[in-house]
Amino acid sequence: VNFSSDNVAGISPEILAALAAANTGTQPSYGEDAISARLERRLADIFEHEVAVFPVATGTAANALALSTLVPPWGVVYCHAEAHIAVDECGAPEFYAAGARVAGIAAPHGKIGVDDLAALLPGGKGVVHHMQPAAISLTQASEAGTVYGVEETAAIAELARRHGLGLHVDGARFANALVHLGCAPADITWRAGVDVLSFGATKNGAAAAEAVIFFDPAKAADFAFRRKRGGHLFSKMRFLSAQLDAYLEDDLWLRNARHANAMATRLAKGLQQIAGVRLRHPVEANELFVEMPDPLIEALFAKGFQFYRWDGPRGNCVRLVTAFNTAAANVDAFLTTARGVNRSE
Ligand SMILES: Cc1ncc(COP(=O)(O)O)c(C=O)c1O
Repeated sequence: VNFSSDNVAGISPEILAALAAANTGTQPSYGEDAISARLERRLADIFEHEVAVFPVATGTAANALALSTLVPPWGVVYCHAEAHIAVDECGAPEFYAAGARVAGIAAPHGKIGVDDLAALLPGGKGVVHHMQPAAISLTQASEAGTVYGVEETAAIAELARRHGLGLHVDGARFANALVHLGCAPADITWRAGVDVLSFGATKNGAAAAEAVIFFDPAKAADFAFRRKRGGHLFSKMRFLSAQLDAYLEDDLWLRNARHANAMATRLAKGLQQIAGVRLRHPVEANELFVEMPDPLIEALFAKGFQFYRWDGPRGNCVRLVTAFNTAAANVDAFLTTARGVNRSE
């Protein structure tokens, strides 16, 4: 049983079937195909807005390319200190933005607040010696498994607008956040003031597909060139688009995310009943950060459960991630084992 990541899961059968269905006949290349056109229409419907959509194959490419459109080489992107763009992308955002700076802000539970940002702004705006504040990036759901609410997002967007900054959302787990909020996709994006979204699908059932979505197509004017230059203009684009199209069809993305989140909640509820176990952050999506005694961690490893220690090899916090296909029986097996170990301690 593997709770290491949602990336360890396979592909949703519906998406695999869509790939097979796309594999008949011929289609124009480089995104000129009918599936890519259908995907763009579908996303415009879902977001209730005109959109410019650019499929890419990794979240890192989506984030780095999206941010490169918002910031000049001398620009600063503000984000949480643990944001994927700050710590897990090998400097891709700085590279794609030709030298821009990603500035991480430490804040509780994986989320930056309007006060954290307000304290740093205007931050040398207009001073020729300083890098220039240019964008804010929020991770939705966050690296701590928490979710930005509509009002929190709108307040940050308002601050961004006031200071002339762009607002990007890293939505590698956007569906998990959305089903937690229960709002319309528009409410937590363009209506709240988001300019560009990295719309994730890989972690929630696709093989390798994410989409950069601009809510003001004028802001996407040069994106096609950036994507090509960045090596993410796929000649057989229809296979990326087919994954995303199937992901959205019949609300598969929402069903998958609801299941993953429900499994995380089930784990959280069970773990909270066990003495010595503490949740570090509220469980709002599909990730849990759990502090537990070392013997319990070791006993779970010994029983074959897979997951990561989060604070280094000696730390007593572990990360558990559920996915669209996590079996309830596996969640229960983890809980039963944990309870058993605790009783025998
Ligand atoms: C918050 C977040 N953003 C983006 C990504 C996308 O990363 P990748 O480039 O591995 O697809 C991940 C994956 O771990 C993530 O957790």
